[in-house]
Amino acid sequence: MTNLANVSVRNLRIELGANTVIEALDLDVRAGEFVVLLGPSGCGKSTLLHSIAGLIDVTDGSIEIGGEDMTWADPKDRGVALVFQSYALYPTMNVERNMSFALRINGTPKPEIERRVKRAADMLQLGPLLSRKPAQLSGGQRQRVAIGRALVREADVFLFDEPLSNLDAKLRTELRRELKQLHQQLGATMIYVTHDQVEAMTLATRMAVMKGGVIQQFGTPAEVYARPENLFVATFLGTPPMNLLRGTLQADEGKLWFRGPQLSVDVTNYAFKGAPDLTRPCVLGVRPEDVRAGGRGAAQQEPLKGTLTLVEPMGNHRVLWLDYHGVQIASIDQDKAPLASGAPVPFEIDVQHVSLFDEAGGERL
Ligand SMILES: Nc1ncnc2c1ncn2[C@@H]1O[C@H](COP(=O)(O)OP(=O)(O)O)[C@@H](O)[C@H]1O
Ligand SMILES: [Mg+2]
Repeated sequence: MTNLANVSVRNLRIELGANTVIEALDLDVRAGEFVVLLGPSGCGKSTLLHSIAGLIDVTDGSIEIGGEDMTWADPKDRGVALVFQSYALYPTMNVERNMSFALRINGTPKPEIERRVKRAADMLQLGPLLSRKPAQLSGGQRQRVAIGRALVREADVFLFDEPLSNLDAKLRTELRRELKQLHQQLGATMIYVTHDQVEAMTLATRMAVMKGGVIQQFGTPAEVYARPENLFVATFLGTPPMNLLRGTLQADEGKLWFRGPQLSVDVTNYAFKGAPDLTRPCVLGVRPEDVRAGGRGAAQQEPLKGTLTLVEPMGNHRVLWLDYHGVQIASIDQDKAPLASGAPVPFEIDVQHVSLFDEAGGERL
């Protein structure tokens, strides 16, 4: 049966050829968590995942699984099961044979194989498909079989490398929900790699945002979205991404202001991480849903005045693109009243939800 295992990566360094892909990386995954590694293509997500699986040798550092040092353990002895983006099913074997292959190889008794395959097939609604060959399955069904093949291993830790990337949009969202339910049913530790922020936001109990082999931020999706640690995370998440305005901090009349060209925002109540340096250029970040078009909110200031350049209808909301003294600002708007391009649109910035960053280093203030 599945045990609950934590995964602890310490000071990991991985060199591939002349590339240092990962340098001094730490990651702690608690038992039963669903951790998503999110980042752009080439940032080292697969390398990290495959090193946990034992498919890539580490150059330095250690990997513990369930409290045991597995840094140099054989992949089959780690209690992990890996699901790839490509299904890699055996074309000549039916679903049942594909799912049970590894168990037959390692000599698992037949009744035990049958029990595990039935359990996985039930969980993934594969029962009616057990005698089909991969060619007779849809893409979504094939990926279910690939997941089933991992489930029968009854591993302590399940690793997924972009398992939904080859599926069309509708199937991807369906299987995404099934994976989340599967995690809730099994309660097993899962580590899931994706470049898709929606998958990360919807699936993760905690997510690690990666860039250039370095974890930029590790936290719950809500934390990472609301309080990004740096400009990279701020703009990697969110559709459209966070609006960024350049300026400086100024103390004036007992208050602290963010002042940009034609813009003054009261940031007196902002939760600074340390004493702010008023001499350094900084960036104010505000999510499109915190830019209120119409200026009907709890105004602390006169509404700003933008010019509408574009409307993007999204069905349940729309994105207004406003030109504000040459800066394009996105505003998410629930209103339906038609708006003409070029119309003046008053807007307010919700100061409770802004982020401030050092412009040069990009880190959160
Ligand atoms: N075998 C290899 N030899 C040298 N460099 C590699 C090798 N495999 C991957 N890389 C490099 O390591 C980096 C991270 O790759 P990868 O972990 O696959 O990224 P991701 O999964 O985030 O897209 C990339 O720059 C890639 O070019
Ligand atoms: Mg990858």
